[in-house]
Amino acid sequence: MQDVDRLDLSELFAGRAQQEWGAPLAPPRQGSGPPPIPFTYGLPDPGSFPYQDIIQATATVVNREGPQAFQYGTTRGFDGLLDVIISRLAGHEGIEATRQNLMITNGGLHALDTVCHAFVNPGDTVIVEAPCFHGALDVFLRLEAKPVAVALDDGGMRIEELADKVASLVEEGRKPKFIYTVPNFHNPGGVTMTLDRRLALLGLAAEHKIVIVEDDAYRELCYEDDPPPSLYALDRHGLVIRLGTFSKILAPGMRLAWALGPEKAISKMLLFRFDTGTSQFGSRVAAEYCREHIEDHIVDLVKVYREKRDAMLHGLEEHVGSLARWTRPQGGFYVWVDLSEKIDSDRLLECAREEGVNYLRGTACFPDGRGRNSFRLSFSFPTADEIVEGTRRLGQAMRAAKS
Ligand SMILES: Cc1ncc(COP(=O)(O)O)c(C=O)c1O
Repeated sequence: MQDVDRLDLSELFAGRAQQEWGAPLAPPRQGSGPPPIPFTYGLPDPGSFPYQDIIQATATVVNREGPQAFQYGTTRGFDGLLDVIISRLAGHEGIEATRQNLMITNGGLHALDTVCHAFVNPGDTVIVEAPCFHGALDVFLRLEAKPVAVALDDGGMRIEELADKVASLVEEGRKPKFIYTVPNFHNPGGVTMTLDRRLALLGLAAEHKIVIVEDDAYRELCYEDDPPPSLYALDRHGLVIRLGTFSKILAPGMRLAWALGPEKAISKMLLFRFDTGTSQFGSRVAAEYCREHIEDHIVDLVKVYREKRDAMLHGLEEHVGSLARWTRPQGGFYVWVDLSEKIDSDRLLECAREEGVNYLRGTACFPDGRGRNSFRLSFSFPTADEIVEGTRRLGQAMRAAKS
């Protein structure tokens, strides 16, 4: 067949797709040195996946339910998994939820995507934390929201700054649609919002009638005292939509998460799902697994990740020392690092690649180009020994980049 010129479809893309977006979660590049120790992404520990119990749960579901296990289900999600979530919320936090308050999604970011579809018009303002989870920023920017960043410190989002920003946005006629926050074991900041700030945030949101999107992906992975009650649990006005995920406590490959919120908000979000719901089969297996094992499994995970967190903090102390300041997370997967003096961030990344260590650049976590003097380290994937070695390489890279 004769070759013809292939047509360039660029001009046909929707306005929001015309821009040259970077690929989400592009794999980090390698230098010429040793294979890199990956501190870049929050991948769960590969040895922690409960293979045998999942095999058993799958067999039980297939044998017990036969063809029903493979059928379509509702868009909201498999009742059995909704009930597992309801019973865990009640048991751990005293939250009374019904199936109508919930929907199962294909991961936490998918839940965020449906929140945006239900609430955000192109050009609407949303408040984010600075730094912010880069995956959430991708969702907001690509769905044409305008993120406005409020600084984070050791106590979580700075509420005074938030109040000032909200007041001036309201005055400009740009009242934010929602405030997106990761209150526990922040990604990427590693900090937890204090109870006082949670209450102040709820007060402010109620005063201006702004939704709070509470992304609580790491609540259960807690290595010290329990975090304060969730914003959802504290809310008296029905303003909070809380997102949870099985990615970090079971397996991200199952793509199972949930959104919890006022019935009316969840119903609207359901109208903007055109995928007929999340895998019923996977949900049945997860529900079967969770009923039997999830609580014990989380106890084991906490031990695994606490050891890794400790390895990272000790490694940083020993090998990075005064070259940087970093957060000390009480849970979750992340440490946020601010360099003590200005080091060119491109040069630092090059040196880190040569040494054989990767991290997430700080700029990925700000909507406005900030973050050049910072980066995020994730301790969830490498072994404790690799973590210590990775911090040694990081210290080397910093010294090389400075010289
Ligand atoms: C704060 C936060 N929210 C949501 C997610 C997304 O998780 P998933 O889409 O796998 O449920 C992550 C993953 O790293 C996260 O850190």
